Amino acid sequence: MLTKTHRGVRAVALSTVFVGGLAAFAAAAQPNAEVLHWWTSGGEAKAAAALKADFEANGGKWNDMAVAGGGGDAAMTVLRSRVLAGDPPAAAQIKGPNIQDWAKQGALGSLDKVAAAENWDKVLPPQISSIMKFNGKYVAVPVNVHRIDWFWANPQVLAKVGATEAPKTWDEFNALADKLKAAGITPLAHGGQPWQDATIFETVVMGLNGAAFFKKAFVDLDDATLRSDGMVKVFDQMRKIRGYVDKDFPGREWNAATQMVMNGTAAMQLMGDWAKGEFLAAGKVPGKDFLCAPAPTQNGYLMNVDSFAMFNVKGDDKQAGQMLLAKLIVGEKFQETFNTYKGSIPARLGVPKDKFDACALKSMDDLNATIASGTLMPSMAHEMATSGAVRGAVLDVVTQHFNSSMTSADAAKKLADAVKLAK
Ligand code: GAL
Repeated sequence: MLTKTHRGVRAVALSTVFVGGLAAFAAAAQPNAEVLHWWTSGGEAKAAAALKADFEANGGKWNDMAVAGGGGDAAMTVLRSRVLAGDPPAAAQIKGPNIQDWAKQGALGSLDKVAAAENWDKVLPPQISSIMKFNGKYVAVPVNVHRIDWFWANPQVLAKVGATEAPKTWDEFNALADKLKAAGITPLAHGGQPWQDATIFETVVMGLNGAAFFKKAFVDLDDATLRSDGMVKVFDQMRKIRGYVDKDFPGREWNAATQMVMNGTAAMQLMGDWAKGEFLAAGKVPGKDFLCAPAPTQNGYLMNVDSFAMFNVKGDDKQAGQMLLAKLIVGEKFQETFNTYKGSIPARLGVPKDKFDACALKSMDDLNATIASGTLMPSMAHEMATSGAVRGAVLDVVTQHFNSSMTSADAAKKLADAVKLAK
């Protein structure tokens, strides 16, 4: 007969067996990840499908949480509400200082184990690994490097006004755009959404004022720089650009603008190299059907690194899913496949270059050159440079100016005031 103590011991023993059984079950459970991202355009979806395929081929169960909307502002709203509701997705596409913000709030799980096993400190360049760490520990995993400051042009359309290449200075751009306009051609395909306005704006900031000015304005948030004559000139150029877009630009998605260049209803687009993913997904050939050329930025490079952070979630299957996903993302083969679809270049070292086209090779060369010259800058429009609040304040002013008759002087003043309030 069992005494009370015996019963207790037996109960403990049984529960140990039971817990052990659960653990064994959990260890064998299928890795599972709900992945929040905004890759829904033609090229983006192809790249996202490559990640899903790799995950599934390695035994994972992918739960797709795609939130449409270029630039990811809609996706970030969904992410915030999911975290607030205590139900975060296992993995979410977040970037730059946002990674630090979420980590500071204690929302992110550590990736140090995978990072150590996979040697991330060796295979990731410090310019990228530093963005992925919080207090020296990995909390996010980089997918790629996108360049923002690109012109995408239709050579057949350029030829109609005798042009053979994209402009190399902003004066050249204005002269070419005037010619195109006079010939009845829309010079610039643009989608009027705040992040797209800001994509053009930050490129013009680099183009007219250079990297040191850009850093003072959007990394140091220096008040005098934000309200300087240099910034006034940027708004002058934005006003000119407003005259080079078609009347239907408000609200247009970026990939619809890319489509306009593809089908010849516009000559050029100023957009990050995810636009190349769109051309490629449509079967277009670089150098023939479309041209890629860095926009005039005084030999700068605006960098945008996509990455995933793993949120604190319960369940061994989910945690196994997070680790598997993180491991696969940094894999050489995956980085090659994904980035050839996405239009970006690998975030890790050692990926063979032979599958990459001339645009990607140019991006790789310029990335190295600008690291050496100190003119590599984090994109403000794509959340690499500032907090979300400051970025939001900048985007508001840029968009207000673009869609009104606000003077350049007023815009520069408003910009400085808004940043002061937001920081
Ligand atoms: C960027 C993102 C890219 C691309 C683009 C348009 O912010 O880094 O991967 O998806 O938005 O959606």
